[in-house]
Amino acid sequence: MIEAIKKLKREKNALILAHYYAPLEIWEIADAIGDSLELSRKAAQATEDLIVFCGVRFMAESAKILNPDKKVLLPVADAGCPMADMITADALRTLKEEHPEAGVICYVNSSAEVKAESDICCTSAGALKVAGSLPHKEIIFVPDKNLGSYVASHYPEKKFYFIDGYCPIHNSCTAEDLKRAKALYPNALIAAHPECGKGTSEIADFVGSTTGILDFCRKSDSEEFIIGTEIEIVRALQKEFPQKKFYEAKEAFVCQDMKKNTLSTLLKALQEEKNEILLDEKTLRLAKKALENMINL
Ligand code: 13P
Ligand code: SF4
Repeated sequence: MIEAIKKLKREKNALILAHYYAPLEIWEIADAIGDSLELSRKAAQATEDLIVFCGVRFMAESAKILNPDKKVLLPVADAGCPMADMITADALRTLKEEHPEAGVICYVNSSAEVKAESDICCTSAGALKVAGSLPHKEIIFVPDKNLGSYVASHYPEKKFYFIDGYCPIHNSCTAEDLKRAKALYPNALIAAHPECGKGTSEIADFVGSTTGILDFCRKSDSEEFIIGTEIEIVRALQKEFPQKKFYEAKEAFVCQDMKKNTLSTLLKALQEEKNEILLDEKTLRLAKKALENMINL
């Protein structure tokens, strides 16, 4: 399969992008792996004819928005993000009517239509900087209430409005889970994603994006870590540092949608070129502005 993928990739001049939560077998064959911000940058700069995005729908949509002349494929059509589905463009329009003075930040884990209604996007890697860049005293932050609260805690002078949006996988990692893990492994440092549940960012030694967590563990002298994010990050770190110990902050820390990406779905995508991302011109144009505002910053 790996040989067939490489051959088709060459023949079709394709770029394979993969998020860190895709299985390690995909990491090994991808042209670039990264967090949402890095992958958006890669997609924007791509010169290949075809982009195959081994991630979930909002990531492939962002690639299309940032590089609309390319053909972008999402290997598995129903690989989605439950958090992205928690806010619709209609709901955001209502929120904007209720708070007309507020600037609108949308987390990239959102649909193209929601991005089109927003002033600027953010990823977990740059959310603090994005919030600091807005002159508004009031900010609507959608859809992740956990990332939003983490950002808001750094800007007490601004008023934030949230919806009840969250990642079901990260939100179920609670402050109690982190305390329990720390009691079991008292020498371990805690690195957690800001999507984790209420109170976790106050307990963690490091809070950041998937890349941030990898970098934190790579640079640290510590021998043990409690990881508050998806299992693939633990697997990758354990493989890279076999002499160190990496513990999951809670059981079953798995994004099932990301795991829909396999060598076989990637090969099929390259063979059949189905599941192309298509967006209407207006959505594309408005969403591009919000994404580019983030990238430029
Ligand atoms: P990162 O931007 O940290 O890769 O996060 C994306 C995501 O979906 C986390 O659940
Ligand atoms: Fe969405 Fe959560 Fe999966 Fe990230 S881990 S893609 S936020 S469902």
